[in-house]
Amino acid sequence: MKALLLAGGLGTRLRPLTEQLPKPMALVGNRPWIEHLIVQLRDQGIRKFVLALKHYPELIRRHLGDGSRYGVTIDYVIEQEALGTAGAIKNAEPLLDERFLVFNADIVQHIDVKPLLRFHQESGATVTIGLMEVEEPSAFGVVELSDRGEIRRFVEKPKPGETTSKRVNAGIYVMNKEALAYIPPGREVSIERETFPSLIEQGAGLYGFPLQGYWLDIGTRERYRKVHWDLLDRKLKLMIHGQEQNKGIWVGKDVRIGDGALLIPPVILGDGVRIGDKAIIGPYTVIGEGCHIAARARLSETILWDGCIVKEGAQLYQCVFGYDSEIEAGHILYEAYAQRMKEEVSV
Ligand code: GTP
Repeated sequence: MKALLLAGGLGTRLRPLTEQLPKPMALVGNRPWIEHLIVQLRDQGIRKFVLALKHYPELIRRHLGDGSRYGVTIDYVIEQEALGTAGAIKNAEPLLDERFLVFNADIVQHIDVKPLLRFHQESGATVTIGLMEVEEPSAFGVVELSDRGEIRRFVEKPKPGETTSKRVNAGIYVMNKEALAYIPPGREVSIERETFPSLIEQGAGLYGFPLQGYWLDIGTRERYRKVHWDLLDRKLKLMIHGQEQNKGIWVGKDVRIGDGALLIPPVILGDGVRIGDKAIIGPYTVIGEGCHIAARARLSETILWDGCIVKEGAQLYQCVFGYDSEIEAGHILYEAYAQRMKEEVSV
């Protein structure tokens, strides 16, 4: 089974972190999310990937290469103009098999896809949408199902009382290639707004199937942070790089910790991190590879991407800083959120 990963969106809601970076390359526990996604799908037996890219495609291609490092094959389809969530699938048609999986690559999830594939086969669906149940469906497109699992209608961002369903489109689909006949070629097409409604209208076999497992869209800053807290609490069971030295303290290779420094779990320190004397790190703090935290600095509920420098006595609370950020000595920052690029890249 091949998986098509949609990774070409602009990620506007996560800017500035995604100003010059595809959203699926946002770090989750010091690794780009898309790398975790490929590894966990590989562990479920999926070995062939097609990536549909538009925004800074080279950053993804350079990081993942041909996939051999992960024991998979990866083919790339790069759009000149953004084709939208269905247009991108249509554009990848020559690389797809008779039946394939599609994932929105910006959704952090840890889900067993086997029951979804089984349901798709047994129901005779043309397309099966994986569904997640959410507490507060008003920000989502909600799906109403028949007893057999056929999708009756979508209610976009429902108002109270408009529907009793709390099932939302999880951005994970199984598709038969014949579904691509419903997507017009060569223009931007939204799968949610155009293709799915058209499949319902034409009775073309659009089904939904409730999924079990971890699921969170990292489209906003709040949810981006929440994914990290869930990772540290092990509610999201992705692999964490580094040794768990004490409970809830993961330490990478070649890490040096100064005299009198205190690590309050949960904390992840990436490879090559330096922590100065009497610094206090944690709880809920993830420090990327090669970061230098000077003496007496204080970090709590904070995420630093690789290469950041926090100077003496600086204090960071609930902050997220992108690659190579520098925080001046003595600065005290709450909820700061900023990105500095590692290198200049062309679009
Ligand atoms: P926002 O701008 O913050 O809404 O994010 P986004 O542009 O990523 O949009 P959205 O969350 O709706 O996208 C859902 C998934 O489809 C994400 O994984 C995107 O990367 C992907 N996607 C969205 N539009 C396109 C597109 O035009 N081409 C491709 N290849 N992927 C897309």
